[in-house]
Amino acid sequence: MTTPIILDCDPGHDDVFAIWLAAGDPAIELRAITTVGGNGRLEHTTLNARIACTVAGIEGVPIAAGAAGPLAGELHPADWIHGDNALGGPVLPEPTVPLDERDAITFMRDVIEASAEPITIVATGPLTNVAVLLRDHAELAPRIARIVWMGGSTTRGNVTPYAEFNAWTDPEAIKIALDSGVDFTMVGLNISHQALITREVRDRLSAIGTPLSAFGVELLEFFCSTYERAERMPDGPLHDPITVALLADPAVATTVRTRIDVELDGTETRGATSTDLIDILGREHNATVALDLDVDRFWGLIERSLRALG
Ligand code: BDR
Ligand code: CA
Repeated sequence: MTTPIILDCDPGHDDVFAIWLAAGDPAIELRAITTVGGNGRLEHTTLNARIACTVAGIEGVPIAAGAAGPLAGELHPADWIHGDNALGGPVLPEPTVPLDERDAITFMRDVIEASAEPITIVATGPLTNVAVLLRDHAELAPRIARIVWMGGSTTRGNVTPYAEFNAWTDPEAIKIALDSGVDFTMVGLNISHQALITREVRDRLSAIGTPLSAFGVELLEFFCSTYERAERMPDGPLHDPITVALLADPAVATTVRTRIDVELDGTETRGATSTDLIDILGREHNATVALDLDVDRFWGLIERSLRALG
């Protein structure tokens, strides 16, 4: 049994590892990749998705570009973490994999309609594309098995004290996804900050000894250096692949059903994901939240995917 997914992403260093895990893990069937403006402007995130596939020899997974910016307001790319091209560090090759000419929403619709079984959407950037799909094609909701999203937090933020970057970029999109009735899982900073890219992890991936692992470690070195500068974290957190890992091997993390609401209007808290882990509000549960990561198991999946891609 494999899980068919569409991976909606904004590569971004950690998004690249999510793509590689989705393509390299035997439990996942990566049907399509869609891109969104987030870590970088759409032209960069789209180019980077194609580069991620090119360096890993991932062919035959169609890629389509989606929303350039959030539903409301301007995009503010995370260049302080990911660099000007959203993929700072290694010299980037010219991509050899093509870009589908459809826009991401049409393309997602086509993939979902063509599938015999419901599709899981894994989102590792702002939820803009997912929200537009659910808003404009509500009839597709029953054909979406679930949405597994990296973003938000049960605790702290990373752009403001309470808002995580993907959530802060497009809070309105989160509300649309939560209100859609599609099964929703949040993989927030509370768990992703357990996936620390320690020196030991970088050495372990380096020891694979392939051009792909060398490229990956160059990405991680850059990412850790910007995390050290921006957040005083010398071992940066590999947020995004936890979404895919959770599907590939549910034992990689504990989860709980709970209530999430997103702050749209707060003067200091716009984009905060209010997660009622103690049921203090008594509201109906509307989401699953990932809590504790089995760190060894997680890095084992990452290593295995890099080895599988060769
Ligand atoms: C999220 O924001 C981006 O910088 C990462 O790719 C991840 O999706 C973490 O806040
Ligand atoms: Ca991302």
